[in-house]
Amino acid sequence: MLCLQTRQLTYRFRGGVALEGIDLAVPAGAIYGFLGPNGAGKTTTLRLLLGLLAPQDGEILVFGGRLSGSNRPKAMRRIGAMIESPAAYGNLTAHENLLLLQRIHRCPAARIDEVLSWVGLSDTQGKRAAQFSLGMKQRLGLAMALLHGPDLLILDEPTNGLDPGGIVEMRQLLQRLNRECGITFLVSSHLLAEVEKFATHVGILHRGKLLFQGSIDDLHAHRRAVSEVRLRTSDDAGAASWLRQAGHIVRRNAAGLTLPHLDDAGIEAIVAGLVGSGIGIHGVAVVQEQVDLENIFMDMTEGGSCREAA
Ligand SMILES: Nc1ncnc2c1ncn2[C@@H]1O[C@H](COP(=O)(O)OP(=O)(O)OP(=O)(O)O)[C@@H](O)[C@H]1O
Ligand SMILES: [Mg+2]
Repeated sequence: MLCLQTRQLTYRFRGGVALEGIDLAVPAGAIYGFLGPNGAGKTTTLRLLLGLLAPQDGEILVFGGRLSGSNRPKAMRRIGAMIESPAAYGNLTAHENLLLLQRIHRCPAARIDEVLSWVGLSDTQGKRAAQFSLGMKQRLGLAMALLHGPDLLILDEPTNGLDPGGIVEMRQLLQRLNRECGITFLVSSHLLAEVEKFATHVGILHRGKLLFQGSIDDLHAHRRAVSEVRLRTSDDAGAASWLRQAGHIVRRNAAGLTLPHLDDAGIEAIVAGLVGSGIGIHGVAVVQEQVDLENIFMDMTEGGSCREAA
């Protein structure tokens, strides 16, 4: 079941297109990493989802219903969000900030201590939010987003500016909330390596277009599929000629030979064939060049439109 879905979501600023026909699909229970470099359109998408901008084209479905008209208030009660920097009052303590929100949401007062404990801010006592470290401010923002007990949390770069320890803490906190409270997360980031550590699903946005969407396993499979096989042999010229005759595409340079992706059986076959032809194998390596987001973007943009994993 999908918790959140968009169909052909489009938004244009005066300066140009920010989003072009985005079809997001966030499964219930997922931690969906919404990836993209600066200016890709992540914040614009999240603002549209939260009704902070009005879609110019396309539609948004939340919990199976359209996010519009009389449906909107009901759906919004089930969503919590932290977009860009958290909006806490600096002259109030964490507890006081939450007290204000508790009155708005009309949720039980006991919920304040509960969310403060979740985010590890129970012991901040009289400290005002303005005196908080960045990590504490992010955690207060999360507590504010969590207070009314949402089923879906939308977080815009929640680890931005945090040190490595703070990033790990935030990641573990989101995973715990997902596991123990069943909250679905849509979390934007520009760091693939970070998202891979905790997301179950990813969407990759580039210049307003969704280039890839699927589970983290689908992304890994895609990356494997674009890996290369590198060979060092006793006779590279002879090996290249044998491989070409066997129907392979081979590039040769001073470091050896490079072939496009082969699975294990394919590697076994070429090694056996070359050895059988009297060519010694000095090294075989499977290299995944697409290790960072930029390389993935380059590879995917060459391929054109969004690749949706089944
Ligand atoms: N208020 C605005 N007016 C005009 N253009 C805007 C506005 N807000 C965003 N844009 C443009 O829309 C595009 C997407 O911006 P957006 O903030 O959604 O990107 P982002 O993926 O969140 O980037 P970042 O990683 O830097 O936060 C950019 O080209 C940006 O310049
Ligand atoms: Mg942004």
